[in-house]
Amino acid sequence: MSEAMINQAAWQCAPGHPLRIGVADLPQLATSEIRIRNAAIAINPIDWILQEIALLPWLEYPAILGSDVAGEVTAVGSGVERFKVGDRVVGQAVGTTVNEPAQGAFQQHTILLDHMAAPIPDDMAFADAAVLPLGLGTAASGLYGRTQLALTPPSHSPSARSEVVLVWGGSSSVGCNAIQLATASGYRCVTTASAHNSDLLKGLGASEVLDHSSPTIVDDVVEAIGGARLAGTLHATGGINDCFAVVEKCVGSRRVAATLPPPQERPAGVEATLISGTILKDDEVGPMIYRDFLPQALATRRFVPAPPAKVVGKGLETLQAAMEALKAGVSAAKIVVTLP
Ligand SMILES: NC(=O)c1ccc[n+]([C@@H]2O[C@H](COP(=O)([O-])OP(=O)(O)OC[C@H]3O[C@@H](n4cnc5c(N)ncnc54)[C@H](OP(=O)(O)O)[C@@H]3O)[C@@H](O)[C@H]2O)c1
Repeated sequence: MSEAMINQAAWQCAPGHPLRIGVADLPQLATSEIRIRNAAIAINPIDWILQEIALLPWLEYPAILGSDVAGEVTAVGSGVERFKVGDRVVGQAVGTTVNEPAQGAFQQHTILLDHMAAPIPDDMAFADAAVLPLGLGTAASGLYGRTQLALTPPSHSPSARSEVVLVWGGSSSVGCNAIQLATASGYRCVTTASAHNSDLLKGLGASEVLDHSSPTIVDDVVEAIGGARLAGTLHATGGINDCFAVVEKCVGSRRVAATLPPPQERPAGVEATLISGTILKDDEVGPMIYRDFLPQALATRRFVPAPPAKVVGKGLETLQAAMEALKAGVSAAKIVVTLP
């Protein structure tokens, strides 16, 4: 390993400990992998959860956490055709899913699967692009996965449909991506969020944004849907029982794709499935998003990184504070750290 290629990581040595900076290996690339030099890393709830508890039984510690990276390609595997050294990309790191530290985000150099990465426009900041991956992957798996809502894939020129996709918790990271994807699939999108995030979400394509703090939220959402057929519901965050109550009162699909394990107690006929935000690395949704949709959608700005990046630090040593900032709570913001 040359001096220039020493890789530093923010290690999670064991649950319950703060991150510790140390050297990490740079293994050889497999055929369909790329290596990127991370310029920006975004934080997700699963990061601070995995710092606190060993939630994933297969994940060995010391581990390198993190899912969201953007940076420049420094090496490509022998079978990679979509990328070359120097390309600016965004990608979903799957290290905690495959128990492979080299594929974690919280380090200077990360290995990505080539079908889980996309080029980004020259004028898009790495910090902005980094907000995308896990929120996008989770939204896409919920909307398009065959065992989830199995909706029509996103298109660069969608035909308008009369059916509605309900996104509960639209200002969350998963929610902002779900609104844009549902819109790119041609559906009308109705969502819930705080009133102060209404304009942001309408800008992403939501037709109606209902204030989740309203005591009449269930009736408000039903009224906004206005008798249209539901194509499906994605529960990103917020009160899932209110979400179920809306689905029960509407016509159309009774399926809810949920980001957290859904309660067994549900109104009769309402089905709920738990989304895996990493399953797209193994099914058709990964290439659907990263190869067929995202590159052009980002280039034309039909799809934008959202919620907006909130850069809270520079350098691996600021990742600990970044995780704490996310744990303290955000409203329509993605916590990001840049790397020098
Ligand atoms: N299954 C998976 O693979 C997977 C993957 C990723 C995430 N997740 C889970 O998905 C959930 C969302 O993650 P995230 O990163 O998208 O969250 P996030 O961005 O941290 O969520 C913050 C948002 O939650 C919204 N919120 C809080 N209470 C709400 C309510 N009662 N109704 C509607 N919105 C409400 C806030 O909206 P306002 O500020 O507008 O009030 C805020 O904008 C988390 O539980 C996470 O652990 C699961």
